[in-house]
Formats: sequence, structure tokens, C-alpha cells
Amino acid sequence: MKDFIAISDYSSDEIKDLLDVAVKLKKEYFKKGNKKLLKGKVLGMIFQKPSLRTRVSFDMAMRHLGGDALYLSPSEIGLGKRESIADVARVLSGYVQGLMARVFEHEHVLELAKWSDVPVVNGLSDYNHPCQGMADALTIIENFGKKSKGLNISYVGDGNNVTVSLMHVSALLGWNVTVGTPEGYDVNPAAVEIAKAIAVKTGSKLSFVRDVHEAVKGAHVIYTDTWTSMGQEEEAAKREKVFPPYQVNAQLVSEADKDVIVMHCLPAHRNQELTDDVADGEHSVIFQQAHNRLHAQKAILARLFDVA
Ligand code: CP
Ligand code: NVA
Repeated sequence: MKDFIAISDYSSDEIKDLLDVAVKLKKEYFKKGNKKLLKGKVLGMIFQKPSLRTRVSFDMAMRHLGGDALYLSPSEIGLGKRESIADVARVLSGYVQGLMARVFEHEHVLELAKWSDVPVVNGLSDYNHPCQGMADALTIIENFGKKSKGLNISYVGDGNNVTVSLMHVSALLGWNVTVGTPEGYDVNPAAVEIAKAIAVKTGSKLSFVRDVHEAVKGAHVIYTDTWTSMGQEEEAAKREKVFPPYQVNAQLVSEADKDVIVMHCLPAHRNQELTDDVADGEHSVIFQQAHNRLHAQKAILARLFDVA
């Protein structure tokens, strides 16, 4: 495992193993603090877009494990603009022991990994958000237990990068996935084909629907995300007209399983895709989910650096 670019690059067993490591490191952290597994290692963090959770949780994950992290802002690096991605990768490989990159185009993180001698972690691209997907799976397992096979995961809203990673991790773990999107905002078709191939092996059922009420029927998890992702800002007004029927509100939640959990990767646009009462209500696990970024990423780092 050199890089962590997409959840679908891994097998069901590898993803389950990563989740086991995350559970172990989380327990250890709260009991007596983590062992300094990454002493002397520095993670270079390249950000082409803003971040709260990804930036802070990676920085803290490195510190808790005895290492360090270096934040590199968009204006400093100018990835592919001031300097080619291949040159940035080769230069940084001599300074830091690992890289995490949040980019616009997925090809850019692939290019970085191709030229880098050190492990590269995808901290979100236009295609996917694999670290988020791992934290989401950890959260779902914490709420439903390890025998979670057959769970119904419903994602409603924009079929975006977060949807891709949720769909792939769910398919790998044998969970059923229903995606409810308006026309024109479907999930990346190539990612759907990958999910279908995984589902054949794991027995997971995949459905793609337009009707939001049909999407949440029998759901154990309702997941939503922003209607306008980073980089799509000029489409915001148009999107705000299309997506209101897909809002996760108390009425929609009441149509799901009675023990449904409500998830959102955050940042949330409250009272757009998710109403305040639901975000702060009894079904919401959004902060547990945000906190699990820390623990899931420790597992990814420990495995990439081959110390756990
Ligand atoms: N969920 C997530 O990736 O949050 P940030 O954009 O704040 O990192
Ligand atoms: N889909 C969102 C996720 C933010 C964490 C975006 O790409 O902006």
C-alpha cells in the first residue's frame, strides 16, 4: 500500500483491516495516548482548497503518533502553475516522509502519486473523498456494530465526490446503497460501474432513484452533502433552485427506519441540504463523524508508513 487515493483500490479485507486499526488506535488514544509510531516523520499537506476537518485532523493525527505536519497553502505551492506537479512531487519527496493533497482535478493527485517517492493520501478531489469515506464507515460501524451487513445506506442530494467514496466503502462492506439525485446531478458513471463490480462480489444492492421519499424508505443511514461543492461556486444560484426537494428535514427522516442515523461530511449549509433541527437532533451523528476523521486517518497513516 504506497498511496491512499481511492477506497476502490482496496479489497473488502483491506478496508476491514484499516477499520480494525482505526478502532484500535481510537481506543488506545482515549486510554493512554497513542504510541509514537510516526516519530521523526513529517506529512506535507498540500491544499488547493479550504479545509477545517481534513487539515486539523491530519495535523493532530501526525502529532498524536509522534510525527509532525506541514501545511502548504494554495498560494505557496501553485501546484501545476508555478511548477509542474511532477517537479513538486520529486522535490517534496526529499523533504517530507509523506504527502496529503486536496486538489481540484483528480488527475492531479494521481500525477502527484506517480512522481512522488513517498506515500500520497488523497484529501479530496473532484472525483472522491476517500478519507471521509473511511471515517463514515467507522461511524456507521460504531452505531450499528460490526455485524452491519445488509444495512441500507441512503445518500440524497448532489451525486458528488463524497457520494463516490461512501458508495464504494459501503459496497465493499456489503451494505446496500440507494442514491437519490435530481436529473443532471447523478454520480460519476465510471464510479457507479466500479461500485457495481464490487457489489457483485459482496452481495451489496445498489439503487439509483430520483424520488427522495423512495430513496430514504427503510434507510438505516441518511447521508447528505452540500448542493454546491468547492469549485462549483458559480453554479450555486442554479443549484439552489434544483435541490430543495432533496433537503434532509424532520419529515424525510420520519420516513426512514426508526433508528436511522443522519450523516453529513460537513461543512453543512444549515437549512439548505440539512435543517437545523435534524442536524442537532437525536438521529444526527455529524460531530461523531467529524471526530472520526482523526481516528480513521491515523489508521491510514499507520498502514502507509507500515508501522501498524
Ligand atoms: N469534511 C471535510 O473534508 O471537511 P473540510 O473540508 O473542512 O476538510
Ligand atoms: N462535496 C464537498 C465536500 C466538502 C468536504 C466539496 O467537494 O466541496
